[in-house]
Amino acid sequence: MRLDKYISKALGISRKEAKRLILSKRVKINGKVVKDPSYKVSNEDITLDGNHVEKPKEKIYIMLNKPAGFVSSTSDVESTVLDLIDHPRVRELHPVGRLDKDATGLLILTNDGDFTHKVTSPKHHVEKEYEVIVEGEPQNALKLLHGVKVGEYFFKALSIKVSENVIHIVIDEGKYHQVKLMMETVGLSVKSLKRVRIGGLKLDVEEGHWRELSEEEVRRVMEG
Ligand code: URA
Repeated sequence: MRLDKYISKALGISRKEAKRLILSKRVKINGKVVKDPSYKVSNEDITLDGNHVEKPKEKIYIMLNKPAGFVSSTSDVESTVLDLIDHPRVRELHPVGRLDKDATGLLILTNDGDFTHKVTSPKHHVEKEYEVIVEGEPQNALKLLHGVKVGEYFFKALSIKVSENVIHIVIDEGKYHQVKLMMETVGLSVKSLKRVRIGGLKLDVEEGHWRELSEEEVRRVMEG
């Protein structure tokens, strides 16, 4: 990796700012000033003003508890989920699948396109669990265990738990508005929808908050 890229990723600053630090001789490699921003770095000891600069992670994974009112997109036409993430490399991230603007709960953000493909592709059968508050006869949701036709699709719940008007539904695909459409098909209207689990990863941050995932947690997403 080029030295300016290393510094910019490690410190969460722009490439231009990183170049400026390098040209002002504040960056050393193995104790020697290096003024060439294109210098190829591998495993050397890099310092800025004498302080060690940790090697930047290539891949970043974030758990966000999305509040209602934010779109799961990276374009800035309206308030997007990226506005909630105060991370130095937020510009690299995209949401793994989407949650509707009025939906809440677990959204993973990453810069790892392969991971996104695996989690969202129906081929990999990664489970998604939603907590849904409904209006109507909640027991009707049990019909979803047998599957329902919605337009050209056949949607089947892997598991349904009903407790008063709160339904926990597990599916392993994620078509547009899928849960709402499934509920509508059995006469239920969705009052609120929250994703609480993706694979083996359960939501554990407060609404509007986020945290980075460990490597072990990232593996767990695919295992659940
Ligand atoms: N199903 C929906 O209807 N909406 C979502 O946001 C996610 C799943």
